[in-house]
Amino acid sequence: MQWSYLDFIQSIFKLTTIDLSSYKERQMKRRIDALIARSEYKNYHAYFKALVANKELRDEFMSYITINVSEFYRNPKQWEALEKDILPNLLQKHDELKIWSAACSTGEEPYSLAMLLSRFIPLNQIKIIATDIDASILQKAKEGSYIEKNLQNLPKELIVKYFHKQGAEYYIDDSIKTCVDFRQHDLLKDEYPKNCHLIVCRNVLIYFTEEAKSKIYNKFYKSLHPEGILFVGSTEQIILPQRYNFVPVQSFFYKKAYEI
Ligand SMILES: C[S@@+](CC[C@H](N)C(=O)[O-])C[C@H]1O[C@@H](n2cnc3c(N)ncnc32)[C@H](O)[C@@H]1O
Repeated sequence: MQWSYLDFIQSIFKLTTIDLSSYKERQMKRRIDALIARSEYKNYHAYFKALVANKELRDEFMSYITINVSEFYRNPKQWEALEKDILPNLLQKHDELKIWSAACSTGEEPYSLAMLLSRFIPLNQIKIIATDIDASILQKAKEGSYIEKNLQNLPKELIVKYFHKQGAEYYIDDSIKTCVDFRQHDLLKDEYPKNCHLIVCRNVLIYFTEEAKSKIYNKFYKSLHPEGILFVGSTEQIILPQRYNFVPVQSFFYKKAYEI
């Protein structure tokens, strides 16, 4: 049976509820085609039938298409800006911060946030919501075990304070783990948390079509507390942020301007 890419992604939507039509087609198609070429199935239809029959293959497919690379303090200059300006400003205005790490992958981002916040407030006052579409990646995030390469940008003092090393693995301390509430969440279809003071969503919007991005920015806007901050990835600056009522406060940080 000859299936087109469109047939394949429509069937994937029915099977998994993941809407691949909202991801940039050229990039996603190239990745899926390469995956199928390497597999024993060789065309969309045969590969799809295998996905239906085999949960393990389905999980692998899911992890492959969602691209899970992450690291602690990814792009350290931006974490410096967060520490020096953005967080002190927010903490001056609010006693408690509601923070959402959206598309958090293996947990480096929400755990980095918890460690950074611990420089300002006691750990028992820190609560970070961390979400991702990929259930298996969230499982890894909860385990909190990393290799040295993931930690290369993290200040040494935080490594000493919050990790213990066993063999080649660095395990994050339970005191940091308990600050983070991991949940499965699809940015394209699930309801967003409300009244967030800070949303960190980095290195995922680059994969989406302009239309999908636009919808997500509008949803982030609604999800933010007045004057809340959206922190984006280093290749994800928003073109014409005023279209979404965002005001740039620094590179990669946008403030919610006023209610639409
Ligand atoms: C490259 S990682 C980014 C991780 C982290 N934010 C960082 O910057 O290091 C992209 C993550 O986006 C997640 N993702 C992809 N599509 C998603 C969607 N529709 N909703 C929520 N998360 C999604 C993937 O599962 C993956 O873990």
